[in-house]
Amino acid sequence: MSMVDVMPLDGIPPGQMVRVEVGGQPVCVANVNGTLHAVHDTCTHAMASLSAGWLDPDTGRIECPRHGAAFRLEDGAALTPPATAAVPVFPVEVQDGRVLIGAVPSTPHPFDTE
Ligand code: FES
Repeated sequence: MSMVDVMPLDGIPPGQMVRVEVGGQPVCVANVNGTLHAVHDTCTHAMASLSAGWLDPDTGRIECPRHGAAFRLEDGAALTPPATAAVPVFPVEVQDGRVLIGAVPSTPHPFDTE
């Protein structure tokens, strides 16, 4: 699988989210107590940028800044309305102090298949 080097690990401290581009797709990278997750940055409700929202490190959830839908970072599941579709998840690795993101998400973004 093709992995893309997106940033140094120290560019994303615990409790933070950063938006990056991978293969032309916006990706939200989140640091949950030292574990990195990567999901598509576009909310499946109305296209807000999820990395501009809020991360709860205790639950591993992110909250959309526009209407408040919550998503589970581990698998992208939509947990609360108004979003109903999951956000795609991207593979993420740390190698030699660098963050690498897989170019192919778990599923296409729902807006890409409409
Ligand atoms: S745009 Fe994200 S909940 Fe509406």
